[in-house]
Amino acid sequence: MYLLKLFLAILMLAAFTGTAYGYYDYTKFECIYSTSDYSDMVYLVSLSFNKFVDIKCNSTEVKCVGFTEQGVKFADNFNKDKAFLQNLKASVDTFCRHNAEIIDSAVRDKAVKPKVIMKSVKQAEGRHPAMLQCSAYEFYPKKIKMYWLRDSKVITSDVTSTMEMANGNWYYQIHSHLEYTPKNGEKIQCVVEHASSTQPITKEWNPHISESDRNKFAIGASGLVLGIIIAIAGLIYYKKKSTGRILVPN
Ligand SMILES: *[C@@H]1O[C@H](CO)[C@@H](O)[C@H](O)[C@H]1NC(C)=O
Repeated sequence: MYLLKLFLAILMLAAFTGTAYGYYDYTKFECIYSTSDYSDMVYLVSLSFNKFVDIKCNSTEVKCVGFTEQGVKFADNFNKDKAFLQNLKASVDTFCRHNAEIIDSAVRDKAVKPKVIMKSVKQAEGRHPAMLQCSAYEFYPKKIKMYWLRDSKVITSDVTSTMEMANGNWYYQIHSHLEYTPKNGEKIQCVVEHASSTQPITKEWNPHISESDRNKFAIGASGLVLGIIIAIAGLIYYKKKSTGRILVPN
């Protein structure tokens, strides 16, 4: 708050000396961090007039640097002001960390678990390998890890993956393809690691109970049964007709 008041005074000054063209005097407060425990948090204040930065203050260095003639004078004054510097340093906690905690708990920590789906996109044919697709849908945040296992060992070759794609509604999706030659008794798995789950999400490929295969089998089987019924009915019909029309020799 102390900082804010100070800069408001400068802002007024600029407004009073402004001409018909106007001036643009602005102050930027930044909280920069990249770790979840905020240990590398820096609070930055920069004062600019029109397009030029006059002063930058850095909470880690606990000092200000001037970039223009005016800025150097102001920075000198700031750097002599113990209360100002103390406030600059303290703002990392009182302003930055405080706000970051609120924003993070509202957004970053609201992780949404992906829906993982595995399917066969190409069956093995002759010398051409089969292809499996593993997809993760509707997850947040973006950071995710997707990989394949063969008998619990990470598969490093014949894998192609897309980037994380934004759905446009804060959710993301990602896809990975595995080219492989099916072998009897092997175990193929797709593993997804994401902030929404402490345990990796694992899908195992089971060619025998894959849904599309089961559907194909069901359709084929019903077709066969239907065919047999029609054939038998036809045969009975034919027999009946032919026995009723016995040709009498003349
Ligand atoms: C702030 O100061 C720290 C320590 O010197 C430095 O590592 C960091 O890059 C500075 N940040 C900016 C944006 O100048």
